Amino acid sequence: MIETKYYGEFGGSFIPEILVPTFDQLVNAFNAARNDPSFWAEYVDIMSTYSCRPTPLTFAENLTRYFGGPRIYVKREDLNHTGAHKANNVMGQGLLVKRMGKTRVIAETGAGQHGVATATMAAKFGFECTIYMGQVDIERQSPNVFWMERLGAEVIPVKDGTRILKDAINEALRDWSANMDNTHYVLGTACGAHPYPEMVSYFQSIIGKEARKQITEREHRLPSRVYACVGGGSNALGIFSGFLDDPVELVGVEAGGKGLDTGLHASRLASRDAAIGVAQGYKTYFLQDSEGQMQKTHSVAAGLDYVGVSPILSNLKEQGRVRFESATDTEVLDAFSLTLKKEGLVPALESAHAFAQAFKEAPDMSREDIIIINQSGRGDKDIFLVADALADPEWRSFIIKKAEEYKNSKK
Ligand SMILES: Cc1ncc(COP(=O)(O)O)c(C=O)c1O
Repeated sequence: MIETKYYGEFGGSFIPEILVPTFDQLVNAFNAARNDPSFWAEYVDIMSTYSCRPTPLTFAENLTRYFGGPRIYVKREDLNHTGAHKANNVMGQGLLVKRMGKTRVIAETGAGQHGVATATMAAKFGFECTIYMGQVDIERQSPNVFWMERLGAEVIPVKDGTRILKDAINEALRDWSANMDNTHYVLGTACGAHPYPEMVSYFQSIIGKEARKQITEREHRLPSRVYACVGGGSNALGIFSGFLDDPVELVGVEAGGKGLDTGLHASRLASRDAAIGVAQGYKTYFLQDSEGQMQKTHSVAAGLDYVGVSPILSNLKEQGRVRFESATDTEVLDAFSLTLKKEGLVPALESAHAFAQAFKEAPDMSREDIIIINQSGRGDKDIFLVADALADPEWRSFIIKKAEEYKNSKK
């Protein structure tokens, strides 16, 4: 292999021999692009004309007043085309696919946001597209499946294992091994074998670059804390990268699910339930049992429901540079509702984890403090989950009526 990379003891490239030439090609293409100043300019240009960059930094005036503590800002990744930070990564990888001369892309998806973003990128650049998605996630996120298919992608349900994100990743890797000549695997987060953690964080660093500039222009100082939710870790690394060398506290918020003491969560770095291991091409903290079998995870937010975590974040935790916390499903739904009512912002349930932790800490902070919460995506996709969780009677009768209409029209 031409190159691998470790972050402390985490990372590396644990890949089948058959994939080595493809990884070498990708490492070469990425390194060449990174060293070519015109590439970043091309990337910023496409993100500002096709997506919505720079995304705004919104002052949450009402929440600031409500808590009476720090000035609260929200970085609006929800305003990206396709509704989440995932666009930053897929458009960057799409430009690399063009450079490598490949014609087909495949991807895994959990919440569906990365799948929609990849299918959109494929439509824009004219690539064939296949998306792997766990059966459980397909059931949780049907609207996203609908859009992926309308965008021209083939969505393949994964029925192996626990039928969620990790199983979709395994299936995508199998496809790649068989079709690597014309196919690029658009991994959706800062995990996997080198160069994915590095490459995905490189594209997502646009969030941190903008946020740092925006807050210093507006407040003439840096924030005290920055909050981001952590699934695989890409939006967190994206915003944290702008403040890593500054005296700014960085807080990563994982899925506390039904509570850390119930075993039904997806907290790798905030709980004591994870152990260091090697799987899916890289070394990091995984939620696994004493025999190394991956454990079942749970979160109300499909995009945080993953057994592993970016090796870069595992290292930042070991170094004490990032503090990791978790928010339970209930805390997340409360934070989601409060954000809607107070600010008219609709965070994705994933992003609402960052809001929940910030809200827990805000009452103990001073008015001199500034915090930034990364709103990684918008919550429209979560309408079914939220309506269920809040037991909204009008929504329920609307769905029942719609189902009756479908039943009758099929007769
Ligand atoms: C809106 C949103 N936020 C966050 C995540 C978590 O991913 P990551 O930790 O890579 O940012 C997802 C994943 O699907 C997502 O859709």
